[in-house]
Amino acid sequence: MLREARAFINDYYSENQLDGAYKRWQKIETEIENTGSYTHTFDELSYGAKLAWRNSNRCIGRLFWKTLKTIDARKVASVQEFEEALGHHLEVAETRTKIRSTISIFPPIASNGVAPFKIKNYTLLMYAGYSVGDQVLGDPKNVEFTQYCESLGWKGKGGNFDLLPVVYSVNDGPDQWYQIPAHLVSEVAISHPEFDWFGELGLRWYKLPVISFMSIRIGGIVYPAAPFNGWYMLDEISTRNFGDEHRYNTLPLIADYLELDRSSPFWKEKALTVLNEAVYYSFEAAQATMVDRHSAVDQFMKFMDQEEAAGREVTGDWTWLIPPHASSTTAIFHTEMKDELKFPNFV
Ligand code: ARG
Repeated sequence: MLREARAFINDYYSENQLDGAYKRWQKIETEIENTGSYTHTFDELSYGAKLAWRNSNRCIGRLFWKTLKTIDARKVASVQEFEEALGHHLEVAETRTKIRSTISIFPPIASNGVAPFKIKNYTLLMYAGYSVGDQVLGDPKNVEFTQYCESLGWKGKGGNFDLLPVVYSVNDGPDQWYQIPAHLVSEVAISHPEFDWFGELGLRWYKLPVISFMSIRIGGIVYPAAPFNGWYMLDEISTRNFGDEHRYNTLPLIADYLELDRSSPFWKEKALTVLNEAVYYSFEAAQATMVDRHSAVDQFMKFMDQEEAAGREVTGDWTWLIPPHASSTTAIFHTEMKDELKFPNFV
């Protein structure tokens, strides 16, 4: 902790051109020696969260790292406060139509190693998946998690787009769940600007991707509950969530509506393009924040330039950064980078 705290404090002070790093460091050192840990100021916490984003090797949206908004939820102690804080996050992250990248940081791991709060969901918002015979209703990715929610007493409507509850523990105790009130979740129904039949597929998706299973580690301190959101890149919803065979697997259906010849090796690409158009234009019509793959890559390349100008080497996980569709038409495909873990980060 001493080593990581020191490195973080140095970065925080030097990048922000602040005086007094050594004085602050001495205070932290004494605090760690006396208590085994130390407390971040709000500004340290907030800058640490930004650095964790900047160091997120799998994220293509890092150009905007400085705009991250931190909600300090370190004082949250009760179940009621915790659940309210989750709702508050969703409200704050989406102001009218524009999504703001936001993180809520709950209390750190205690000195005895206990996590005051821990969220088990991959993301705060997810759709249930039910296996019915040899078929799956809803999101196949979440079948197991849905069964787990049911074992905790949650019951879904049995539809294709039922929002799952948030499953979490308090002080490493038994898991409990909280259903986020529907009025706090905005979703977009998917239709296509040219093909009227597209709406018949009944597809929809929520606007906010809020990753919630990761801890954030800043200056040696681990905050086990730290849900954070950005906005969607088109491909995440269209190409992957709707297109993957082991997810909503909509390509064969779309191909049938389009009357594509499925013996041709190109039917998937054709269906995929129509699916991408549908998601993109539906989000646009709903004025929901979303970025297409080409703009996202342009932004990432700008981020790389910016970092290089600041004398920092950008690390990244190429396999995650390249868009899953038409990847070689984007510059990132032709870029090499190291996948090295730097702190602060999400773990
Ligand atoms: N790919 C995940 C999903 O479809 C979300 C991951 C985070 N995405 C983001 N744009 N911040 O739910």
